Amino acid sequence: MKLLVTGGAGYIGSVCAARLVESGHEVTVLDDLSTGHADAVPDGCRFVQADVGDVAGSLLAEGFDGVLHFAAKSLVGESMQDPSKYWHGNVITSVRLLDAMREHGVPRLVFSSTAATYGEPESSPIPETALTRPTNTYGATKLAIDLAISGYAAAHGLAAVSLRYFNVAGAHGRFGERHTVETHLIPIVLQVALGRRQQVQMYGDDWPTEDGTCVRDYIHVTDLADAHLLALEHATAGEHQVYNLGNGTGFSVRQVIDACREVTGHPIPAEVAGRRAGDPATLVASSERARVELGWKPSTLDLATIVRDAWEFTRSRQA
Ligand code: UFG
Repeated sequence: MKLLVTGGAGYIGSVCAARLVESGHEVTVLDDLSTGHADAVPDGCRFVQADVGDVAGSLLAEGFDGVLHFAAKSLVGESMQDPSKYWHGNVITSVRLLDAMREHGVPRLVFSSTAATYGEPESSPIPETALTRPTNTYGATKLAIDLAISGYAAAHGLAAVSLRYFNVAGAHGRFGERHTVETHLIPIVLQVALGRRQQVQMYGDDWPTEDGTCVRDYIHVTDLADAHLLALEHATAGEHQVYNLGNGTGFSVRQVIDACREVTGHPIPAEVAGRRAGDPATLVASSERARVELGWKPSTLDLATIVRDAWEFTRSRQA
């Protein structure tokens, strides 16, 4: 297929673009490099550096079989401090993209949604039928886009799939996580092991969880990318399907730090700090629907393996 990958110079977008090229698709990466890196665009992709909202129309006029839409603002903390950046950068831009797809008859969309659309869940693991009550602006903007996509699918016959990621981690060869401003737990902990930070702050140890720290469901980025390939195949005209992607097992912040100590052999000092605004206590996925309907089966369930891949990537960037 001839595919447009927005945000393909970012962490998840670059891994997915690489898997698409490996699978024989013709890929154009569209990224403004506001958070991505030009050298993360996989070999074999055409690269266009521009804002999605500005050029989606002219690019899609060339004729495409589908769009994978990764480009987004994605920092929970920042979204609470600067909501306008998220409503414009995520929602307005995505609506422009949907309009351009409609205008130029692009039939398929795979969208990067998030577990943050659910907010604090009523029960765990979270199925796709759970109530969506986001606790932060980031999650609210992703939910708004999901709702827009449902409308476009029903009214205009778009074949759409939203994939709700839980906590993505690990690396795919030379493609991995390297944000200029790092807020994610595993890369931060690995920076301590590299000597680039003194210690890790654990945001709260008084959460209603077994050890008092927040629990998350960590999924390997290669498994996540494979779900995108399956979603492209399963997208059905006029339907908007939603799938949670996680491993179904929760690990606490303390357990993640312990896994990083084990993998790196570094003591990794950690201290308890205050809670971070917008954080839910526990987020664990039920990915039963993706397993049954997409035939998706994650191959890396072990947290240490996920951390090891991230560690190898991080060290290779230092060399
Ligand atoms: N944490 C710390 N210290 C840190 C960084 C994070 O204790 O220095 C904690 C957070 O409070 C949270 C957990 O580690 O409890 C994971 O935090 P991340 O920032 O790594 O990830 P989030 O769970 O906040 O968010 C990620 C993605 C979102 C997605 C969400 C879904 O960034 O896009 O997972 O689970 F919506």
